[in-house]
Amino acid sequence: MQNLAQTLTAQAINASLADLLLTLADTSKAISQAVRHGALAGVLGATEQENVQGETQKKLDVITNDMLKDALKADGNVRGLASEEEDYVVEVSKDGKYLVCFDPLDGSSNIDINSLVGTIFSVLPAPAGELTEQSFLQKGRDQVAAGYVLYGPSTMMALTTGNGTQFFTLDPNSGEFLLTQDQVTITPDTAEFAINMSNQRFWEAPMQTYIADLLIGELGPRERNFNMRWIAAMVGDVHRVLCRGGIFTYPTDNKNPQKPYKLRLMYEANPMAWLVEQAGGKASTGYQTILDVQPTAIHQRVAVILGSANEVDTCLSYHGQDYSQEPQVD
Ligand code: AHG
Ligand code: MN
Ligand code: MN
Repeated sequence: MQNLAQTLTAQAINASLADLLLTLADTSKAISQAVRHGALAGVLGATEQENVQGETQKKLDVITNDMLKDALKADGNVRGLASEEEDYVVEVSKDGKYLVCFDPLDGSSNIDINSLVGTIFSVLPAPAGELTEQSFLQKGRDQVAAGYVLYGPSTMMALTTGNGTQFFTLDPNSGEFLLTQDQVTITPDTAEFAINMSNQRFWEAPMQTYIADLLIGELGPRERNFNMRWIAAMVGDVHRVLCRGGIFTYPTDNKNPQKPYKLRLMYEANPMAWLVEQAGGKASTGYQTILDVQPTAIHQRVAVILGSANEVDTCLSYHGQDYSQEPQVD
């Protein structure tokens, strides 16, 4: 079986980007170890700190963020990084060609219940000149690599460099990521959806109607029944969608009018959107293709609707094209 390095060579990925991706892969192996040791290593539970987004940091949020930061600083190919757990962008190596945005531990509320978590990353080209937040504000379309590592019953990496989406599985014997699925393809149709139903009363009208039609199943306009899943870690829900199709959404809600969206554009929505598109699926905010959203801040949030192409289209047909409905936030 091909390992990750051999796959990158076969894809003719330049040496600097390949090096960087191998650094991310190596770090995720170490993260996988930390996650597996759980309570034995005293890494479970929360810290007393909050991140810039006002969320209490879990110990493992901080540990995994430091692991990635240290590894990327030592790598030499990285000009700067942005992380969910860093208030500001971090300058790394003057001569680095790439910017890395990451969510070091996605689904961290799952960690204390020994359930799915992962690391999500996005790689962008570094513009010339001084490094500022502005350097990072490139559309998802400009990504040169994107992926996640899922710390599940097996540790898996999903990766795209624009050559389709690949799955690698960490072989516990050799310690290598081996290519276990070359061209991941999302089925265009599905009978499975993923949404946090407890927010139902806070959604916009189009999402209320769309989900109501799924729930009424064969008795309603869809004329068939749908099943529901919610892992509460985007990395787990998107992995299921890549494996067997489905629609995943964290839509706009008015629970807190200052925060109408939950998921972060630069290190959650964009990398997942590219993985999904490269597997033949679609990813939208409801009003715009995610990869075409012009970012305005590194910690910006967006609505996300992604997965099986025909089902995403059906969901979007409820939204129409009325951009004035889209909540604006700074
Ligand atoms: P994070 O742990 O990095 O803050 O991300 C959690 C996100 C995402 O992974 C998941 O889909 C969503 O939050 C879960 O939200 P609910 O708590 O509403 O289920
Ligand atoms: Mn996350
Ligand atoms: Mn996180």
